[in-house]
Amino acid sequence: MQFNLTEEQIMIRQAARDFAQTELKPGVIERDEHQKFPAEQVKMLGELGFLGMMVSPEYGGSGMDAISYVLVMEELSKVDASASVVVSVNNSLVCYGLEKYGTEEQKQKYLVPLARGEKIGAFCLSEPEAGSDATSQRTTAIDMGDHYLLNGTKNWITNGNSASTYIVMAQTDASKKHHGINALIVERGMEGFEVGAKENKLGIRGSDTHSLMFTDVKVPKENRIGEDGFGFKFAMSILEGGRIGIASQALGIAAGAYELSVQYAKERKAFGKTLADLQAIQFKLADMATEIEAARLLCYRAAWLKDNGLPYAQAASMAKLFASETAMKTTVEAVQIHGGYGFVKEYHVERLMRDAKITQIYEGTSEIQRIVISREVLK
Ligand code: CAA
Repeated sequence: MQFNLTEEQIMIRQAARDFAQTELKPGVIERDEHQKFPAEQVKMLGELGFLGMMVSPEYGGSGMDAISYVLVMEELSKVDASASVVVSVNNSLVCYGLEKYGTEEQKQKYLVPLARGEKIGAFCLSEPEAGSDATSQRTTAIDMGDHYLLNGTKNWITNGNSASTYIVMAQTDASKKHHGINALIVERGMEGFEVGAKENKLGIRGSDTHSLMFTDVKVPKENRIGEDGFGFKFAMSILEGGRIGIASQALGIAAGAYELSVQYAKERKAFGKTLADLQAIQFKLADMATEIEAARLLCYRAAWLKDNGLPYAQAASMAKLFASETAMKTTVEAVQIHGGYGFVKEYHVERLMRDAKITQIYEGTSEIQRIVISREVLK
């Protein structure tokens, strides 16, 4: 068993850490307050090669491994989870899906600009009445011969307004249930495609989450990913990798709140000592450190399995379940350690606490992760 990171992985982590401190931290409170998408910062992330991290250089990517992806996600998420979710969705849910299942033409046309960070992608599965129950897609893609006619609404779409390329799951033949679902590549600007209002969210407020409306959108047949009816399996398979991304995001949120708490505990004086001298605080920090390390190891393990071509669905769900619960618990404790200061925006921990909540919800709630894990356990 090998726990050491390679020199390259350490360098990548340092680059992400430096970027987070110099480029993300300065405006993060303001972006959260005003729900401002970190457009400039996302552009820079593209230039650093972080938007197509795991895509092969042949298709404009950086050819890095999934462990490096976890490292980058952790470092960015310590500071700004609204920026890191763009990295996660673009890499895991869009680029990975296109590289693994797309045709050569789809890769050249759509994957290359996404992997280079010139464009941003979105993954559109959730609907007003199909969140966890993803097989119940109401959006329809009627087969018209040379194209599909797309109609319906998608909800809570990350990168909803900033994306140019959308992968949309839609039902072509309802009688086949989930075997009748297709995954279609939809371009911004196609007639009949409208971006709805921005959601006013509790957390990751800088990320642009929108509903999307499709009215008789003509999507060429060559934009279907995989065989007819492959859409549901495509989505499920893609979400496995996505869950490693969100697990790492949750890990970063927890680690960010923990690091701020350690620093604060060493500086803040109370009862003639620093907080760090009080056993009540020491015990809290010890629990936080232990749980964060466990979450980190689960993330590394899932990424390692993926890098080595081994099954990783259960490992990814375990990482996401544990890391997201750790993020929630740790950030609540971080606010408590900071006392009154924790409740105001300048100290960052209240934002991390709000950001943590979504990691228990998107890309499958904690309950969904338990379903995936228990199915493997009981197989
Ligand atoms: N890979 C490939 N195929 C898979 C799969 C996987 N990981 N998991 C399931 N499948 C296949 C099954 O083999 C089955 O195929 P067959 O019928 O041919 O055997 C088919 O998919 C249906 O599987 P299930 O019977 O297991 O389906 P289910 O209805 O019981 O649901 C579920 C399974 C795990 C609950 C699933 O619906 C699920 O994961 N739901 C959560 C959806 C989700 O994560 N949504 C998040 C939205 S995306 C998002 O949040 C992005 C963002 O913006 C940040």
